[in-house]
Amino acid sequence: MIGPKIYETVADMRQAVDAARAKGKRVALVPTMGALHEGHLSLVRAAREHAGHIIVSIFVNPTQFAPTEDFDAYPRDSDADLKLLAGLGVEGVFMPPAKEVYPQGFATAVSVGGPAEGLESTTRPHFFGGVATVVTKLLLAALPDVAIFGEKDYQQLCVIRRFVRDLHIPVTILGGPTVREEDGLAMSSRNRYLGADDRRTASLIPQVLGEAVERITAGEEAATVLAQGMARLTQGGFTVDYLELRDAETLAPVDPKGTNAARLLVAAKLGQTRLIDNMSVARPTTGWR
Ligand code: PAF
Repeated sequence: MIGPKIYETVADMRQAVDAARAKGKRVALVPTMGALHEGHLSLVRAAREHAGHIIVSIFVNPTQFAPTEDFDAYPRDSDADLKLLAGLGVEGVFMPPAKEVYPQGFATAVSVGGPAEGLESTTRPHFFGGVATVVTKLLLAALPDVAIFGEKDYQQLCVIRRFVRDLHIPVTILGGPTVREEDGLAMSSRNRYLGADDRRTASLIPQVLGEAVERITAGEEAATVLAQGMARLTQGGFTVDYLELRDAETLAPVDPKGTNAARLLVAAKLGQTRLIDNMSVARPTTGWR
């Protein structure tokens, strides 16, 4: 099996992109932090429907971690990642060292508002600035036709769509559906932090979300359903950061008179492991309550 070409510099990756374009190929970028699982692989497969040349980036981005977070412990396994990507016929992997992305004297950041406000930002105020800065750099470095991100990180996807539009970055942003384990838990590189007991408990998150979606769609009052969902998660051993119903595009609180779809988003900690998840909620025929 021939593996993907590995690029460590922007210049080398750009040369490969130019060569692919010269052959008439469209280019897709799949940004990741490695520790790849089926969720990432589904994004690569989806990217193949849009492009003849796929570049996956693997970079654990230090600027999106607070000093108290798991940057050092974040799982890294580039041999396993490269094998998986070779199996999917990925053409290139961008694995820059930190000094290529943040060279000496680096002094620029992308600042984001709108959908970046609240939810994740309440407990992780540094997070979306770090994501926006690195994703802007990756998009400008690879200059792809399309880039694809998982809906599992739904707020991140909304933030990326917003700043790509605001900054006129000429790339189409696609979202890929969340891939779930058999018991419904959303796949995440951080799931490997969970011990056996916590792993079993973790499936309460998709259960609570799924039931809340059904009840809200059936016309029950969202505030009541969410309060009960929070209580169930807390009784189950979670420390809940949020369980909220938001406008699916702007992530503003749902306008009771509005006709937009909504998204139900949750973040909760189990021991030291913080899990996030979300599901889409269709507007009840009776309107939002
Ligand atoms: O979702 C991720 O893995 C990261 O936040 C991303 C988009 C690759 C930026 O570092």
